[in-house]
Amino acid sequence: MLYVEILGNLPGLAKGEVKALLELADKGFKIVENDHLFLAVKGNEKAFPFLDRLGMAHEYGILLFSAESVKELYAKAESIDWGEYITGTFKVDREVMRNCAHDVKNLEKKLGAIIYKQGFKVNLSNPNTLVRVYCGRKLWVGVRVRAFKAKSFDERKAHKRPFYKPIALPPRIARAMVNLARARKEVLDPFMGTGGILIEAGLMGLKVYGVDLRKDMVDGARINLEYFRIRDYVLKQGDATKLREIFPDKTFEAVATDPPYGSSATLAGRKREELYEKALMSIYEVLDGHLSIAFPAEFNAEKVAEKIGFEVLEKHYQRVHSSLDRYFYVMIT
Ligand SMILES: C[S@@+](CC[C@H](N)C(=O)[O-])C[C@H]1O[C@@H](n2cnc3c(N)ncnc32)[C@H](O)[C@@H]1O
Repeated sequence: MLYVEILGNLPGLAKGEVKALLELADKGFKIVENDHLFLAVKGNEKAFPFLDRLGMAHEYGILLFSAESVKELYAKAESIDWGEYITGTFKVDREVMRNCAHDVKNLEKKLGAIIYKQGFKVNLSNPNTLVRVYCGRKLWVGVRVRAFKAKSFDERKAHKRPFYKPIALPPRIARAMVNLARARKEVLDPFMGTGGILIEAGLMGLKVYGVDLRKDMVDGARINLEYFRIRDYVLKQGDATKLREIFPDKTFEAVATDPPYGSSATLAGRKREELYEKALMSIYEVLDGHLSIAFPAEFNAEKVAEKIGFEVLEKHYQRVHSSLDRYFYVMIT
């Protein structure tokens, strides 16, 4: 068993991202329980290279056991062989979630003492193994495999890139969109803008394809990709409503994209709904797989997409600011 602690700002999207990556790792892997921001997952180390791609998570690890009470937790901790999970020194670190239903005062110390008794050394400042206890509806005990530091995403925020426009998605969300599209080896962003989605995909080792109507965006996205040492890319200046003309012989396994929301500059004089419908039709022609796409809430994407032939699998709401709320959709051809 594994666990993932997701971010709290868009939990639906974050959970969808975990589900998508588990699906990529193995058809049998899945989320089996959800306790606030803690996900218990059926899976094994085969999932690690996929979970390493996560954008909307704090950390993941190996789940050892759950308990309904503190007493049960100590009893289980005494009966397991910690030697299977701890290498070198350890530290117990607890996470008290908003729905914590247990008295976890001094839990780190008491659990630490149980593990110490089995012969393991404590190191509070720089442990080799971090034993994690999550308190929610239940108590969950695991060992951290990887934490995703906010800093590593912050370094890629739009204003830190050499080519900057205030249209770009936050890196964590851009990354989740690539994952929601179930991209294994490649992804296309037909409205790539400054390349935010492509940067995340490129850093995951995927081949990236991008299209934008504007030459300055194509040149700028190239500068940004090169800045992050991403070399396996194909960028084209062109119209997202004519993808078959741009890629006459190519069918993509995944499309992730964030079309313009409405300012006249980014819409290039077209009616927004018409652009969205034509773009969906055009994506459908070149895609054999999943599409992850964001649209403003007023646009009835489900109706339009289903008429074209897509099946809408997921829909996640986000209020961006007072004049923009949007949905992230996951669709399949
Ligand atoms: C919301 S931005 C994309 C932001 C992008 N995710 C980023 O990280 O920068 C939308 C982009 O779509 C482009 N665009 C607008 N109409 C287009 C069309 N018909 N075909 C291709 N690109 C188009 C705009 O030039 C703009 O760069």
